[in-house]
Amino acid sequence: GLSSLVGVGPGLAARLGLNVPPALLTELPEFPGDRLDPARGGGDLVIQLCAADRWPLSVVAEQAGAAARAAGATVRWTQSGFLARTAGGATPRNLFGFKDGTANPNGPEGGQWVWGPPGPHEHGTVLVYRRIRMDTAAFAALPMDRQEQVMGRRAGDGAPLTGTAEHDEPDIYAKNPDGSYVLPATAHVRLSSPRLDGGARMLRRGYSYDDGPGDRGLLFCAFMRDPAQFTRVQNRLAARDALNAFVEHTASAVAYVLPGAPAGGTLGEGLFG
Ligand code: HEM
Repeated sequence: GLSSLVGVGPGLAARLGLNVPPALLTELPEFPGDRLDPARGGGDLVIQLCAADRWPLSVVAEQAGAAARAAGATVRWTQSGFLARTAGGATPRNLFGFKDGTANPNGPEGGQWVWGPPGPHEHGTVLVYRRIRMDTAAFAALPMDRQEQVMGRRAGDGAPLTGTAEHDEPDIYAKNPDGSYVLPATAHVRLSSPRLDGGARMLRRGYSYDDGPGDRGLLFCAFMRDPAQFTRVQNRLAARDALNAFVEHTASAVAYVLPGAPAGGTLGEGLFG
């Protein structure tokens, strides 16, 4: 039950002459409010390992680290995370208690915005990783209706404030009788809405982490064809997201995720030369 992905950082992609357009793989800019620890992010190669149990992860991570060291590399950072098991494909909740991962691209949207175009990049994508500390106590102290205004969705069923069911599309134009927006101007789902981005969607597959008191949060992992999309969304969020009072970005990485290898093939074989 173990799955893995391998991503190549911008520096190594350039040194290997990997056939990835440089515009699609550059370091992210600095965003207002960032408190990034370089020792917890960046690097040449990222390996993400996922499994239902911790034990195979530890064993395989150990082996991958040993193989990397034998090849002359050093392990720059590791980060473990977790995700609640949910029944029947239900959306899991993050450490603020809200369903997280509701609005993700469907198949055709993924083909347009997440995976590379037909050709050598067809099964490749770009990973943006952000380690985001969350002040869970301060958020939990807000009255529930205030929490929902911050998010733009209801805590119970995850429905947008403009809808009745979890998968209703948030309507960023809907107004109250007094003329104010139903989804407040600073609500997270307004500012991250694909409607502000020509419909562009990223595939979010986050995990929670718990590194002890005062250091818990979200390992934001999002996949997209062009990381400039992340930059556009994060610039909007950094400027006015109501969540900003409760979160702090503490590490960052970007990597080109190699297309999976065919049976008997080698990862990334179509991308050299
Ligand atoms: C700790 C920080 C964050 C928390 C707690 C958080 C939480 C949430 C929640 C609860 C939702 C609504 C449910 C869903 O559609 O999944 C959501 C939606 C979304 N978030 Fe975040 N998020 C965080 C950071 C970010 C960041 C850094 C970005 C990108 C720069 C981002 C981009 C999005 C997008 C694109 C959506 C979907 C909007 C839509 O299509 O309606 N989020 N987030």
